[in-house]
Amino acid sequence: MDSILVKGGAELRGEIPIAGAKNACLALMPATLLSDEPLTLTNAPRLSDIRTMTQLLQSLGAEVSALQDGRVLALSSHDLTSHVADYDIVRKMRASILVLGPLVARYGHAVVSLPGGCAIGARPVDLHLKGLEALGAELDLREGYVHAKAPGGLKGAVVDFPFVSVGATENVLMAAVLARGTTVLKNAAREPEIVDLAACLSKMGARIDGAGTGTITIEGVDRLTGATHPVVTDRIELGTYMIAPAVAGGEVECIGGRLDLVSAFAERLDAAGVSVEETPRGLKVARRNGRIRAVDVETAPFPGFPTDLQAQMMALLCTADGTSVLEERIFENRFMHAPELQRMGAKIAVHGGTATVTGVERLKGAPVMATDLRASVSLILAGLAAEGETVVNRVYHLDRGYERVEEKLGACGASIERISG
Ligand code: UD1
Repeated sequence: MDSILVKGGAELRGEIPIAGAKNACLALMPATLLSDEPLTLTNAPRLSDIRTMTQLLQSLGAEVSALQDGRVLALSSHDLTSHVADYDIVRKMRASILVLGPLVARYGHAVVSLPGGCAIGARPVDLHLKGLEALGAELDLREGYVHAKAPGGLKGAVVDFPFVSVGATENVLMAAVLARGTTVLKNAAREPEIVDLAACLSKMGARIDGAGTGTITIEGVDRLTGATHPVVTDRIELGTYMIAPAVAGGEVECIGGRLDLVSAFAERLDAAGVSVEETPRGLKVARRNGRIRAVDVETAPFPGFPTDLQAQMMALLCTADGTSVLEERIFENRFMHAPELQRMGAKIAVHGGTATVTGVERLKGAPVMATDLRASVSLILAGLAAEGETVVNRVYHLDRGYERVEEKLGACGASIERISG
């Protein structure tokens, strides 16, 4: 299993290209199941999660080709051969559940394994299932699989989510575009990935209004066409690389970065003493003089501070001047990086969903273990500023969501290498 070796202390200077969003791409790919015409996604990220979704769609009989070195995905669901999403693939990645809505909407039946995914607390899919039931799908849970049927087709309905779920909004949105009549999604997720999915579906002929707000209205259509769509910038990769010069010092321009994708996060960085400036090519980020200041952080659905940047922010605050309080409001048990950061000398106390971080002058390098995707990159960030060597083990989590992390940081002067094992 590969690990990443980081030698701390080097300031970062240079530019980092930001890829297309993993989470947007994972929702856009299953949209191919809604049409028998080709869907082309450009600006796709090259990540193991994308390969897992490719395998899943191929197992259903869809054609998926990675062109231009994986930057372009050509998808076609002209001749599906199966409507069964098998446990062996679904268990690798939670987003696999996103094939359920499109399959039932277009074919009237589907069998999809219940997913596994990141170990960040109980992550049920009840909202996905309730939303599809509201549209008339008949669901039966047997032996770890959801058996879904809609013999007469789906019908538009009002779906009022009890709390915001990105995946459930995506799944039900995809189902609703082919349902008969009007669907209204209330308390819908407002994440940029939802806006991107709605934009792509609209190019395919769907009639969607209100994406990016809490209420999305969909008028069902009989069929969708093909489309070509560029995947939106990855705001989580962007935020991660914005933290790098904040932790290590220096100045980095994140190419393709957009402030509107990370405004709540950028505001917290600014409060911590990090300057963020819009440039014609993206965002330039630099640590102002002096030590990082402690700031409080509370995760929330978009446009709030993203849970997927909480671990990286914690890595930054470990060396801040003062005490920071981080409240995790989206997932239970999402502080697994805290004990690893403590191994590097961080002072963190975790009580339930609250972590209190008392800044220390300097972290010390140590061997640490990546426990999930965002946790693993937070350990790399911490290593950039730590004294000595940090070895991050189990980096397969990292490869699910970050392409060429060692090359991107290395190009800015970080001392970082992958050790194959
Ligand atoms: C997506 C992102 C993930 C991000 C999360 C929150 C993808 C592939 N993943 O995950 O990176 O951390 O949004 O921004 O896009 N919940 C239920 N029942 C459900 C669905 C969700 O209880 O049916 C709960 C979850 O356990 C969690 C909360 O709702 O506590 C929000 O989860 P959700 O927004 O659905 O996250 P995902 O779509 O899985």
